[in-house]
Amino acid sequence: MNDMLNVALPKGRLGEKAYAMMETAGFPCPAIKENNRKLIFENEAVGVRYFWVKPSDVAIYVERGAADVGIVGKDILLEYAPEVYELLDLQMGKCRMAVAAKEDFHDDRRRTLVVATKFTRIAQDYYASLGRDIDIIHLNGSIELAPILGLSDVIVDIVETGTTLRENHLIPIETIVPISARLIANKAAFKFKNEKIEAIVQSMAKQLEEKA
Ligand code: PRP
Repeated sequence: MNDMLNVALPKGRLGEKAYAMMETAGFPCPAIKENNRKLIFENEAVGVRYFWVKPSDVAIYVERGAADVGIVGKDILLEYAPEVYELLDLQMGKCRMAVAAKEDFHDDRRRTLVVATKFTRIAQDYYASLGRDIDIIHLNGSIELAPILGLSDVIVDIVETGTTLRENHLIPIETIVPISARLIANKAAFKFKNEKIEAIVQSMAKQLEEKA
C-alpha cells in the first residue's frame, strides 16, 4: 500500500496530457478514462494512484506529502514557493505572466502604481526588482475588469492566446516571466520512492526529446 505512487493531476486538458505521459512512462490506469465524477483512480498492478485536484492546489498536496508527485504551472511555484523539488519542465501549458493595461494607459512614474492581480508575490517581486512603488489589490478572478473600472492602473496576469485582453480592450505592456507546466515531487517521497520517480523523470524527458 505504501509503495503506491500517489500522483496529483491538475483537472483539465493539462492533466489529461500529463496522464498520457505517465501512461507511456509505465503507469497506466485505464479506469481514469471512464468519464465520471470520481476523483481517485488506482492501478494496484503497477502501483499507482491518481487524483484530480484543482490546478492551483497541486503544489499543496505535493508539499504536504498527500501526493508524491504532481504537475503544476510555474506560476503557482513562483507565487507560493512550496517546499518541493521541481524535476522537469514539461513544455506544455505554455503561457506568460504579463503586465497589461488599457490601450490609452500612460505610466506616470512619479505616482504609486496600482496593480490588481491574483499573483501578489510575483507582482511584488517584479516591481521591487524595478524599484517601483506599488499598491497591490488582490483579486480572485476576472482581473481584466480592474483597469476598465478604474480599480487599478494595470494588472499582472496570465496571458495565453491574448484573447481575453483583446476582447476587453487591454494590451500587454511587459512580460514578467514565461510559464509552463512542471513535474514536481515531495521531498521525502523523492528519497523513499526514488526508483519510481526517477523512472518517470527519465521517461518524460525522453518523450519530450522525441517530440522536439
Ligand atoms: C486565465 C487568465 C486570463 C486568461 C488568459 O484565466 O487569468 O483571464 O486565462 O488566457 P487568454 O490569453 O488565452 O485569453 P483562466 O481561464 O485560467 O481562469 P481564472 O479566471 O480562474 O484565472
